Amino acid sequence: MDVGRLEGEAAAAVAAAASSAALAEVESAVLGKRGPLALAHRQLGSLDPEERRSAGQVLNEARRRLEALVADRRAELAAAERRAALEADRLDLTETRVVAAPMARGHLHLVTQTQYELEDTFVGMGFTVAEGPEAETDWYNFEALNIPPAHPARSMWDTLYLDLGEPETVVLRTHTSPVQIHLMEDQPLPIHAVMPGRCFRRETPDARHLAVFHQVEGLVVDRGITFGDLAGTIETFTGAYFGPGIHSRLRPAYFPFTEPSAEFEITCTICRGEGCRTCSGTGWIELGGCGMVDPAVFDAVGIDAGEWSGFAFGFGIDRCAQMRHGISDMRALIENDLRFLRQF
Ligand code: FA5
Repeated sequence: MDVGRLEGEAAAAVAAAASSAALAEVESAVLGKRGPLALAHRQLGSLDPEERRSAGQVLNEARRRLEALVADRRAELAAAERRAALEADRLDLTETRVVAAPMARGHLHLVTQTQYELEDTFVGMGFTVAEGPEAETDWYNFEALNIPPAHPARSMWDTLYLDLGEPETVVLRTHTSPVQIHLMEDQPLPIHAVMPGRCFRRETPDARHLAVFHQVEGLVVDRGITFGDLAGTIETFTGAYFGPGIHSRLRPAYFPFTEPSAEFEITCTICRGEGCRTCSGTGWIELGGCGMVDPAVFDAVGIDAGEWSGFAFGFGIDRCAQMRHGISDMRALIENDLRFLRQF
Protein backbone atom coordinates (compact mmCIF):
# COMPACT_ATOMS: atom_id res chain seq x y z
CA MET A 1 0.00 0.00 0.00
CA ASP A 2 1.25 3.44 -0.91
CA VAL A 3 0.53 5.37 2.30
CA GLY A 4 2.27 8.47 0.94
CA ARG A 5 -0.11 8.67 -2.08
CA LEU A 6 -3.12 7.93 0.12
CA GLU A 7 -2.13 10.70 2.56
CA GLY A 8 -1.52 13.11 -0.34
CA GLU A 9 -4.97 12.46 -1.83
CA ALA A 10 -6.65 12.71 1.59
CA ALA A 11 -4.84 15.96 2.36
CA ALA A 12 -5.97 17.40 -1.01
CA ALA A 13 -9.60 16.39 -0.31
CA VAL A 14 -9.43 18.03 3.15
CA ALA A 15 -8.04 21.23 1.65
CA ALA A 16 -10.72 21.21 -1.07
CA ALA A 17 -13.67 20.82 1.37
CA ALA A 18 -15.58 24.10 0.95
CA SER A 19 -17.87 23.87 3.99
CA SER A 20 -18.01 22.28 7.45
CA ALA A 21 -20.55 19.77 6.12
CA ALA A 22 -18.31 18.83 3.16
CA LEU A 23 -15.33 18.48 5.53
CA ALA A 24 -17.31 16.15 7.80
CA GLU A 25 -17.95 13.88 4.81
CA VAL A 26 -14.28 13.92 3.76
CA GLU A 27 -13.27 13.17 7.35
CA SER A 28 -15.52 10.15 7.64
CA ALA A 29 -14.51 8.91 4.17
CA VAL A 30 -10.76 9.19 4.90
CA LEU A 31 -10.44 8.60 8.64
CA GLY A 32 -13.62 6.59 9.30
CA LYS A 33 -13.95 2.91 10.06
CA ARG A 34 -14.49 2.08 6.40
CA GLY A 35 -11.86 4.46 5.12
CA PRO A 36 -8.60 3.51 3.39
CA LEU A 37 -6.50 4.00 6.53
CA ALA A 38 -8.70 1.69 8.56
CA LEU A 39 -8.62 -0.78 5.68
CA ALA A 40 -4.80 -0.62 5.52
CA HIS A 41 -4.71 -1.07 9.30
CA ARG A 42 -6.71 -4.23 9.00
CA GLN A 43 -4.32 -5.54 6.37
CA LEU A 44 -1.35 -5.19 8.75
CA GLY A 45 -2.21 -8.61 10.17
CA SER A 46 -0.87 -10.31 7.06
CA LEU A 47 2.64 -8.83 7.55
CA ASP A 48 5.42 -10.26 9.63
CA PRO A 49 5.91 -8.60 13.04
CA GLU A 50 8.86 -6.41 12.07
CA GLU A 51 7.15 -5.02 8.96
CA ARG A 52 3.84 -4.72 10.83
CA ARG A 53 5.39 -2.48 13.46
CA SER A 54 7.06 -0.13 11.00
CA ALA A 55 4.07 -0.08 8.63
CA GLY A 56 1.76 0.47 11.62
CA GLN A 57 3.91 3.39 12.73
CA VAL A 58 3.78 4.90 9.23
CA LEU A 59 -0.02 4.51 9.16
CA ASN A 60 -0.44 6.02 12.65
CA GLU A 61 1.73 8.99 11.81
CA ALA A 62 -0.19 9.56 8.56
CA ARG A 63 -3.50 9.40 10.52
CA ARG A 64 -2.25 11.93 13.12
CA ARG A 65 -1.13 14.34 10.42
CA LEU A 66 -4.47 13.97 8.60
CA GLU A 67 -6.38 14.46 11.86
CA ALA A 68 -4.40 17.64 12.52
CA LEU A 69 -5.11 18.83 8.95
CA VAL A 70 -8.85 18.16 9.40
CA ALA A 71 -8.85 20.04 12.75
CA ASP A 72 -7.10 23.06 11.18
CA ARG A 73 -9.44 23.07 8.17
CA ARG A 74 -12.47 22.75 10.46
CA ALA A 75 -11.39 25.82 12.45
CA GLU A 76 -10.72 27.73 9.23
CA LEU A 77 -14.13 26.87 7.75
CA ALA A 78 -15.98 27.63 11.01
CA ALA A 79 -14.35 31.09 11.15
CA ALA A 80 -15.23 31.79 7.49
CA GLU A 81 -18.81 30.64 8.01
CA ARG A 82 -19.21 32.85 11.09
CA ARG A 83 -17.86 35.84 9.16
CA ALA A 84 -20.36 35.17 6.36
CA ALA A 85 -23.26 34.89 8.84
CA LEU A 86 -22.30 38.16 10.54
CA GLU A 87 -21.99 39.86 7.17
CA ALA A 88 -25.45 38.65 6.19
CA ASP A 89 -26.95 39.95 9.45
CA ARG A 90 -25.20 43.31 9.31
CA LEU A 91 -27.47 46.39 9.62
CA ASP A 92 -26.44 49.43 7.64
CA LEU A 93 -26.55 52.18 10.21
CA THR A 94 -24.65 54.64 8.09
CA GLU A 95 -27.79 55.78 6.24
CA THR A 96 -28.45 58.79 8.46
CA ARG A 97 -24.85 59.92 8.09
CA VAL A 98 -24.86 59.93 4.29
CA VAL A 99 -27.98 62.14 3.87
CA ALA A 100 -26.22 65.07 2.28
CA ALA A 101 -28.26 68.14 3.18
CA PRO A 102 -30.36 68.66 6.34
CA MET A 103 -34.10 68.24 5.71
CA ALA A 104 -35.76 71.52 4.80
CA ARG A 105 -38.28 72.55 7.50
CA GLY A 106 -41.30 74.67 6.71
CA HIS A 107 -43.00 77.12 9.04
CA LEU A 108 -46.50 78.31 9.80
CA HIS A 109 -48.30 80.35 7.14
CA LEU A 110 -48.27 84.09 7.78
CA VAL A 111 -52.04 84.12 8.45
CA THR A 112 -51.70 81.36 11.08
CA GLN A 113 -48.78 83.20 12.69
CA THR A 114 -50.89 86.37 12.74
CA GLN A 115 -53.84 84.53 14.31
CA TYR A 116 -51.60 83.14 17.09
CA GLU A 117 -50.05 86.58 17.73
CA LEU A 118 -53.51 88.17 17.94
CA GLU A 119 -54.65 85.45 20.35
CA ASP A 120 -51.54 86.06 22.50
CA THR A 121 -52.19 89.81 22.54
CA PHE A 122 -55.80 89.35 23.68
CA VAL A 123 -54.90 86.65 26.22
CA GLY A 124 -52.43 89.19 27.65
CA MET A 125 -55.38 91.59 28.01
CA GLY A 126 -57.42 89.02 29.98
CA PHE A 127 -59.48 87.41 27.20
CA THR A 128 -60.04 83.69 26.72
CA VAL A 129 -59.98 82.06 23.25
CA ALA A 130 -62.96 80.12 21.82
CA GLU A 131 -63.89 78.57 18.48
CA GLY A 132 -67.12 77.76 16.65
CA PRO A 133 -68.33 75.82 13.59
CA GLU A 134 -67.66 76.99 10.03
CA ALA A 135 -71.03 75.72 8.76
CA GLU A 136 -73.90 77.41 10.58
CA THR A 137 -77.65 77.38 10.42
CA ASP A 138 -79.36 80.53 9.23
CA TRP A 139 -80.36 81.16 12.82
CA TYR A 140 -76.79 81.45 14.17
CA ASN A 141 -75.33 83.33 11.19
CA PHE A 142 -78.28 85.76 10.83
CA GLU A 143 -81.48 85.50 12.86
CA ALA A 144 -80.04 85.38 16.38
CA LEU A 145 -77.88 88.34 15.33
CA ASN A 146 -81.03 90.38 14.73
CA ILE A 147 -81.06 89.84 10.96
CA PRO A 148 -84.46 88.28 10.13
CA PRO A 149 -85.09 86.59 6.72
CA ALA A 150 -85.51 89.07 3.86
CA HIS A 151 -84.05 91.87 6.01
CA PRO A 152 -82.12 94.28 3.73
CA ALA A 153 -79.06 93.95 6.00
CA ARG A 154 -78.55 90.41 4.63
CA SER A 155 -77.19 91.96 1.47
CA MET A 156 -74.22 93.18 3.56
CA TRP A 157 -72.86 89.63 3.20
CA ASP A 158 -72.75 87.64 -0.06
CA THR A 159 -73.58 84.28 1.39
CA LEU A 160 -72.56 80.77 0.27
CA TYR A 161 -75.35 78.25 0.97
CA LEU A 162 -74.83 74.52 1.68
CA ASP A 163 -77.34 72.00 0.32
CA LEU A 164 -77.27 69.33 3.04
CA GLY A 165 -80.91 68.33 2.64
CA GLU A 166 -81.59 69.75 6.13
CA PRO A 167 -84.95 71.32 6.86
CA GLU A 168 -83.07 74.43 8.06
CA THR A 169 -80.99 76.62 5.77
CA VAL A 170 -77.26 75.98 6.35
CA VAL A 171 -74.61 78.48 5.28
CA LEU A 172 -70.83 78.77 5.36
CA ARG A 173 -70.51 81.45 8.02
CA THR A 174 -70.01 84.87 6.52
CA HIS A 175 -68.41 86.21 9.72
CA THR A 176 -67.32 85.00 13.16
CA SER A 177 -70.22 86.79 14.90
CA PRO A 178 -72.31 83.55 15.21
CA VAL A 179 -69.68 82.28 17.68
CA GLN A 180 -70.88 85.07 20.01
CA ILE A 181 -74.29 83.36 20.06
CA HIS A 182 -72.79 79.90 20.82
CA LEU A 183 -70.77 81.39 23.66
CA MET A 184 -73.70 83.27 25.21
CA GLU A 185 -75.81 80.10 24.99
CA ASP A 186 -73.14 77.79 26.43
CA GLN A 187 -71.04 79.76 28.91
CA PRO A 188 -71.84 81.32 32.24
CA LEU A 189 -71.55 85.11 32.45
CA PRO A 190 -69.42 87.19 32.54
CA ILE A 191 -67.71 86.51 29.19
CA HIS A 192 -64.45 88.06 27.98
CA ALA A 193 -63.51 86.07 24.88
CA VAL A 194 -62.00 86.29 21.40
CA MET A 195 -63.02 83.85 18.65
CA PRO A 196 -60.76 83.48 15.61
CA GLY A 197 -61.74 81.50 12.51
CA ARG A 198 -62.33 81.11 8.79
CA CYS A 199 -65.15 82.97 7.05
CA PHE A 200 -66.58 82.59 3.56
CA ARG A 201 -68.18 85.08 1.20
CA ARG A 202 -69.23 84.90 -2.43
CA GLU A 203 -66.76 87.56 -3.48
CA THR A 204 -64.24 87.97 -6.27
CA PRO A 205 -60.81 88.28 -4.65
CA ASP A 206 -59.08 91.64 -5.04
CA ALA A 207 -56.24 93.54 -3.34
CA ARG A 208 -58.19 93.80 -0.03
CA HIS A 209 -60.69 90.90 -0.20
CA LEU A 210 -60.63 87.09 -0.39
CA ALA A 211 -63.53 84.64 -0.73
CA VAL A 212 -62.12 82.58 2.18
CA PHE A 213 -60.59 84.79 4.84
CA HIS A 214 -60.23 84.98 8.62
CA GLN A 215 -61.74 87.14 11.30
CA VAL A 216 -61.27 87.41 15.03
CA GLU A 217 -64.43 88.19 16.97
CA GLY A 218 -64.39 89.74 20.43
CA LEU A 219 -67.19 89.62 22.99
CA VAL A 220 -67.41 91.07 26.47
CA VAL A 221 -70.60 90.62 28.50
CA ASP A 222 -70.46 91.85 32.07
CA ARG A 223 -72.20 94.27 34.41
CA GLY A 224 -71.77 98.00 33.68
CA ILE A 225 -69.87 97.64 30.38
CA THR A 226 -69.84 100.92 28.41
CA PHE A 227 -68.84 102.23 24.98
CA GLY A 228 -65.75 103.68 26.73
CA ASP A 229 -64.66 100.13 27.63
CA LEU A 230 -64.99 99.17 23.94
CA ALA A 231 -62.96 102.16 22.72
CA GLY A 232 -60.31 101.60 25.40
CA THR A 233 -60.02 97.90 24.53
CA ILE A 234 -59.61 98.64 20.81
CA GLU A 235 -56.97 101.32 21.47
CA THR A 236 -55.05 99.10 23.94
CA PHE A 237 -55.07 96.24 21.44
CA THR A 238 -53.93 98.49 18.57
CA GLY A 239 -50.93 99.76 20.52
CA ALA A 240 -50.05 96.30 21.86
CA TYR A 241 -50.22 94.58 18.49
CA PHE A 242 -49.10 97.23 15.97
CA GLY A 243 -46.68 99.07 18.25
CA PRO A 244 -46.24 102.72 19.23
CA GLY A 245 -47.37 105.40 16.76
CA ILE A 246 -50.30 103.32 15.46
CA HIS A 247 -53.67 104.40 16.93
CA SER A 248 -57.34 103.54 16.50
CA ARG A 249 -60.45 105.58 15.82
CA LEU A 250 -64.14 104.69 15.72
CA ARG A 251 -66.53 106.04 13.11
CA PRO A 252 -70.31 105.66 13.20
CA ALA A 253 -71.55 102.65 11.24
CA TYR A 254 -74.45 100.21 11.14
CA PHE A 255 -74.50 96.55 12.15
CA PRO A 256 -77.84 94.87 13.02
CA PHE A 257 -76.35 93.13 16.10
CA THR A 258 -74.76 96.17 17.78
CA GLU A 259 -76.22 99.52 18.80
CA PRO A 260 -74.53 101.94 18.60
CA SER A 261 -72.14 100.52 16.01
CA ALA A 262 -68.83 101.75 14.68
CA GLU A 263 -66.22 101.01 12.09
CA PHE A 264 -62.83 100.62 13.66
CA GLU A 265 -59.87 102.09 11.84
CA ILE A 266 -56.17 102.19 12.61
CA THR A 267 -53.40 104.55 11.52
CA CYS A 268 -52.24 103.45 8.05
CA THR A 269 -49.10 101.40 8.69
CA ILE A 270 -47.72 102.11 5.23
CA CYS A 271 -47.55 105.92 5.57
CA ARG A 272 -47.99 106.05 9.38
CA GLY A 273 -50.86 108.54 9.02
CA GLU A 274 -49.32 110.87 6.40
CA GLY A 275 -51.75 109.74 3.65
CA CYS A 276 -50.82 107.41 0.80
CA ARG A 277 -52.36 105.35 -2.04
CA THR A 278 -53.17 102.37 0.19
CA CYS A 279 -55.27 104.50 2.58
CA SER A 280 -56.62 106.71 -0.23
CA GLY A 281 -54.86 109.68 1.32
CA THR A 282 -56.85 109.51 4.60
CA GLY A 283 -54.08 108.17 6.86
CA TRP A 284 -56.51 105.54 8.23
CA ILE A 285 -57.29 101.91 7.29
CA GLU A 286 -60.50 100.06 8.20
CA LEU A 287 -59.83 96.90 10.20
CA GLY A 288 -63.30 95.86 11.36
CA GLY A 289 -66.62 96.64 12.96
CA CYS A 290 -67.71 96.92 16.57
CA GLY A 291 -70.41 98.22 18.90
CA MET A 292 -72.51 97.62 22.00
CA VAL A 293 -74.39 94.29 21.92
CA ASP A 294 -77.96 95.02 20.75
CA PRO A 295 -80.62 94.12 23.37
CA ALA A 296 -82.39 92.09 20.64
CA VAL A 297 -79.35 89.75 20.57
CA PHE A 298 -79.45 89.37 24.37
CA ASP A 299 -83.16 88.52 24.01
CA ALA A 300 -82.41 85.79 21.41
CA VAL A 301 -80.11 83.98 23.87
CA GLY A 302 -82.10 84.71 27.02
CA ILE A 303 -79.75 87.19 28.70
CA ASP A 304 -81.38 89.94 30.80
CA ALA A 305 -80.37 93.19 29.08
CA GLY A 306 -81.45 95.10 32.22
CA GLU A 307 -78.69 93.38 34.24
CA TRP A 308 -75.96 92.77 31.67
CA SER A 309 -74.39 94.85 28.95
CA GLY A 310 -71.56 94.19 26.54
CA PHE A 311 -69.58 95.05 23.48
CA ALA A 312 -68.47 93.09 20.44
CA PHE A 313 -65.96 93.59 17.67
CA GLY A 314 -64.85 91.67 14.61
CA PHE A 315 -61.94 92.31 12.29
CA GLY A 316 -59.97 90.66 9.53
CA ILE A 317 -56.90 88.58 10.44
CA ASP A 318 -55.71 88.61 6.82
CA ARG A 319 -56.20 92.39 6.79
CA CYS A 320 -54.09 92.61 9.99
CA ALA A 321 -51.29 90.57 8.40
CA GLN A 322 -51.51 92.80 5.33
CA MET A 323 -51.26 95.97 7.43
CA ARG A 324 -48.55 94.72 9.72
CA HIS A 325 -46.26 93.62 6.87
CA GLY A 326 -47.16 96.22 4.21
CA ILE A 327 -48.50 93.65 1.71
CA SER A 328 -50.04 95.61 -1.16
CA ASP A 329 -52.21 92.76 -2.52
CA MET A 330 -53.97 90.33 -0.17
CA ARG A 331 -54.15 87.66 -2.89
CA ALA A 332 -50.43 87.00 -2.30
CA LEU A 333 -51.56 85.21 0.90
CA ILE A 334 -53.36 82.48 -1.03
CA GLU A 335 -51.15 82.08 -4.10
CA ASN A 336 -48.74 79.72 -2.29
CA ASP A 337 -45.67 81.27 -3.88
CA LEU A 338 -42.91 80.07 -1.55
CA ARG A 339 -40.67 83.03 -2.47
CA PHE A 340 -43.34 85.27 -0.90
CA LEU A 341 -44.27 83.02 2.06
CA ARG A 342 -40.64 82.32 3.09
CA GLN A 343 -40.14 86.00 3.97
CA PHE A 344 -42.27 85.73 7.11
C1 FA5 B 1 -68.53 91.96 9.97
O1 FA5 B 1 -68.26 90.87 9.43
C2 FA5 B 1 -69.09 92.04 11.36
N1 FA5 B 1 -69.47 90.75 11.81
C3 FA5 B 1 -68.09 92.71 12.29
C4 FA5 B 1 -68.65 93.03 13.62
C5 FA5 B 1 -68.48 92.17 14.67
C6 FA5 B 1 -69.35 94.25 13.82
C7 FA5 B 1 -69.02 92.45 15.94
C8 FA5 B 1 -69.87 94.53 15.07
C9 FA5 B 1 -69.71 93.68 16.11
P1 FA5 B 1 -67.57 93.34 8.00
O2 FA5 B 1 -68.32 92.67 6.94
O3 FA5 B 1 -67.34 94.81 7.85
O4 FA5 B 1 -68.22 93.14 9.42
O5 FA5 B 1 -66.13 92.63 8.16
C10 FA5 B 1 -65.26 92.98 9.19
C11 FA5 B 1 -63.81 92.92 8.71
O6 FA5 B 1 -63.54 91.64 8.18
C12 FA5 B 1 -63.47 93.87 7.57
O7 FA5 B 1 -63.21 95.17 8.05
C13 FA5 B 1 -62.24 93.23 7.01
O8 FA5 B 1 -61.12 93.50 7.84
C14 FA5 B 1 -62.59 91.77 7.15
N2 FA5 B 1 -63.17 91.28 5.90
C15 FA5 B 1 -64.46 91.33 5.50
N3 FA5 B 1 -64.62 90.77 4.30
C16 FA5 B 1 -63.41 90.33 3.90
C17 FA5 B 1 -62.91 89.66 2.74
N4 FA5 B 1 -63.72 89.31 1.75
N5 FA5 B 1 -61.59 89.37 2.68
C18 FA5 B 1 -60.78 89.73 3.69
N6 FA5 B 1 -61.17 90.34 4.80
C19 FA5 B 1 -62.47 90.66 4.92
